Amino acid sequence: MDFKDLICSSIAKAAELPIADIEALMETPPDKTLGDFAFPCFKLARTLRKAPPMIAQDIASKIEKPDFVSEIKTVGAYINFFVDRSIFGKDTIEKAQREGEAYGSSTIGGGKTIVLDYSSINIAKPFHIGHLLTTVIGNSLYRIYEFMGYKSFGVNHLGDWGTQFGKLISAYKRWGDKEEIERDGIKGLLRIYVKFHKEAEEHPELEDEARAYFKDIEDGDEDALALFHWFKDLTLKDVGRVYDMLGVHFDSYNGESFYNDKMQPVIDELAEKGLLEESEGAMVVNLDKYELPPCLILKSNGTTLYATRDLAAAFYRKNTYDFDKCLYVVAYQQNLHFKQLFSVIELMGYDWAKDMVHVNFGMVSMQDGSMSTREGRVVFLEEVLNAAIEKTRAIIEEKNPGIEDKETVSRQIGVGAVIFSALYSGRIKDMVFDYDRVLNFDGETAPYVQYCHTRCRSVLAKAGDKYELIEPDWSVLSTDGAFEVVSHIADFGSTVAKACEKNEPSVISHYVVELAQLFNKYYYDYRIIDENENATAARLRLTKVTADVIKKALWLLGIETPAAM
Ligand code: ARG
Repeated sequence: MDFKDLICSSIAKAAELPIADIEALMETPPDKTLGDFAFPCFKLARTLRKAPPMIAQDIASKIEKPDFVSEIKTVGAYINFFVDRSIFGKDTIEKAQREGEAYGSSTIGGGKTIVLDYSSINIAKPFHIGHLLTTVIGNSLYRIYEFMGYKSFGVNHLGDWGTQFGKLISAYKRWGDKEEIERDGIKGLLRIYVKFHKEAEEHPELEDEARAYFKDIEDGDEDALALFHWFKDLTLKDVGRVYDMLGVHFDSYNGESFYNDKMQPVIDELAEKGLLEESEGAMVVNLDKYELPPCLILKSNGTTLYATRDLAAAFYRKNTYDFDKCLYVVAYQQNLHFKQLFSVIELMGYDWAKDMVHVNFGMVSMQDGSMSTREGRVVFLEEVLNAAIEKTRAIIEEKNPGIEDKETVSRQIGVGAVIFSALYSGRIKDMVFDYDRVLNFDGETAPYVQYCHTRCRSVLAKAGDKYELIEPDWSVLSTDGAFEVVSHIADFGSTVAKACEKNEPSVISHYVVELAQLFNKYYYDYRIIDENENATAARLRLTKVTADVIKKALWLLGIETPAAM
């Protein structure tokens, strides 16, 4: 139990109310002169039928004061708690050190599985800056859920089906050069694909050829399938490099084509349940009840759609992984698609439709306006990452050329900066990508936080390990500066829980920036190492725990921490 929990439980006992009700109301005042924790009694007035200030007085008089609480004061409808800062500091730091890697984690998700669908790229299409958000939000949520005790299962739901594969085969057979495409990967495929579209404008018969090739794939023609798999392998090799750079992995690459033979049972079930109706030759599920346009299941020529595949995928995932939740980390452009998908499942009578969540997010554009898919001006994610690494290397050469292993450090900082920028604003906001802001070592950025971490490490290295055996004088942690850092560290667990509940990594990125800011301020205002060994021991422990929490928070975001910078 942490301090907040202990205070909540003492209030719950005094008020004779369930602890969950108390926890929901508990506040941490921004101004510590008002108290370190505050409990407002307004909301209790209705059930207890008394004026809020009376309730506050009444509860306060019955509370059994926990040891670490130095004072309980009622002001109006608030019961304010002041903690004994040295005890609070000692307990917080000792708890963090005792729990080590597990500090801030939870077991709440024990025995439950979360399926996360993220990145989900399209084969033979560029892996561009627009995929940054789904990839890094998904990866971060994956880690956050694991840290909360769940089993995370990551799926890259590949866009590997559709007539474009017929076009690619046709284009390849006409103008493709094996070696060239092997060498250029996605870019090579893109080149012949663009050429196909240009040529098809004047020679529409190419479209028929492409359709025939796609039919070959569907019919399992060996030659066509071999090419299809080759396109897939080339794409996965290209994006694999980027996933490696980002430290992202997947437990499954089952994409759209995987569901080819899994749609019929679902379509049959829809028909049996009387949910399938004809509309202009196509088969649809009417969603009037949800005030949504109908969901298209089969086109008039009998072919399946994106939604049909997603429907089959949802059932497959439920049956295979028995998920507690299935998250789709996909841009808000697909809001309607997911509303329809979830509604169809609900209409079919499955209550787990409520466990499907569309984790949506905004768009990314480049500061210099260089992102325009329509004109083929695509900004490849790999190029952005490499540019960030290059720019970092230049900064290092200028500021700290003596540093060891510049390669690794430049990658950790450059890539970390890009990831962090994608996870800093709330998910749903559109984002403008600007290298200078992203790499600013003084801003609300990864390099700023990473730098604070290396600062902690170098203080600890300088002190050596002799202080670990010295009894800390915890009273030095009662200064305002130290207490603010300690309080923030004490909030780590509830911060991760909140990020998880909202599926919002930015809760953690804001948290870690603030931790770095508070520690930096502390570092400037106080000397960590001085003549008093016991005081130094306490400050060093605070420094150590700060470094560990920063490292863990960054890890939860999918960002590494360089050893030096
Ligand atoms: N490949 C799709 C796209 O690029 C995203 C797929 C998202 N996942 C899903 N199960 N629909 O738009």
